[in-house]
Amino acid sequence: MNIQISQAAQTGVRPADADLGFGTAFTDHMFVMDYSVDEGWHDPRIEPYANFEMSPAAMVFHYGQAIFEGLKAYKTPDNKIQLFRPRDNFKRMNRSAKGLCIPELDIDFVVDALKKLVKLEEQWIPDTLGTALYIRPTIVATDPCLGVRASYTFKFFMILCSVGAYYSEGFNPVKIWVSKDHVRAVRGGVGEFKTAGNYAASLNAGDKAKKEGYAQVMWLDALEMKYIEEVGAMNIFFVINDELVTPNLSGSILPGITRDSVITLAQKWGMKVSERKISIDEILSADEDGSLTEVFGSGTAAVISPVGEICYGDKTIHIGDGTSGKISMKLYDELTGIQYGKVEDTENWVEVI
Ligand code: PLP
Ligand code: COI
Repeated sequence: MNIQISQAAQTGVRPADADLGFGTAFTDHMFVMDYSVDEGWHDPRIEPYANFEMSPAAMVFHYGQAIFEGLKAYKTPDNKIQLFRPRDNFKRMNRSAKGLCIPELDIDFVVDALKKLVKLEEQWIPDTLGTALYIRPTIVATDPCLGVRASYTFKFFMILCSVGAYYSEGFNPVKIWVSKDHVRAVRGGVGEFKTAGNYAASLNAGDKAKKEGYAQVMWLDALEMKYIEEVGAMNIFFVINDELVTPNLSGSILPGITRDSVITLAQKWGMKVSERKISIDEILSADEDGSLTEVFGSGTAAVISPVGEICYGDKTIHIGDGTSGKISMKLYDELTGIQYGKVEDTENWVEVI
């Protein structure tokens, strides 16, 4: 399929790196293609970033048949552009697609399309550590129909934005709040897919956490409200007795690509890593007996995000001495080193554009 390119008549200005927040500085162009049963995915195009015209009855607005991804492009010191594990994002997108009755994408085709788009938007890629070009591939259901069923038509698009740190704390430890009343997802549901509804389901508890002064919610399993699952926009890791522990992929957790990268790096360094059930009670007692030394989250937007405080009901635990832990720092340095092309990419995670 040939990608039609129409250039924007006007181009925007990238904010200064220090002013970049997360998710508002959109670039000049986007990639779009459509799906119909007769034509499959068709009409791929790069066009000026603009509003879509869609029926108010489009199924995505009513029943949330929508999936998305999040990945980043980085600028290296020698001015190359590189993507981090892009094929893993589109593999996960195809898993989400299957889970939500959405037609799958041709991974080679969309990675190529993404490379064209990112190259065209090169001026939007910031280059200081902690900044990047965030890429949001999305598929939404477009059938104008109020009957509840899977749509027959879809729109796939990729938009880009220049970003800085996801949390205002930057790399300083964030505070997280464990909800005793809300659940995000349950096994057999859609928790392991990157679908819009999971985030809608998280908003109410997220609001409460913010009001209490916490950055995000840490979710417990929906059946027993006992085992830790993940945090709003990241997977979670604990260092207990020098062992790196993270919840196993239970079926209701997003299989994070950063999570997988952290596990791979830690194992390579000879650390003991366990993916297993881990209860909030175990964390509270590991804090009490001093064996819990570090907690951090992992995610594309969040990178490696040290956690300094966890609140669970009337108990609050403080991790470490309020600064970022050694293992979090080592992982942050190695991971960002690979992403920004400053450390050798022995795992073949990077694709240079
Ligand atoms: N969990 C949730 C709910 C997320 O939204 C994200 C972010 O994408 C992650 C985990 C981390 O996934 P990844 O490392 O692939 O970005
Ligand atoms: C990401 O890390 O890419 C995410 O999707 C997290 C959040 C912005 C939804």
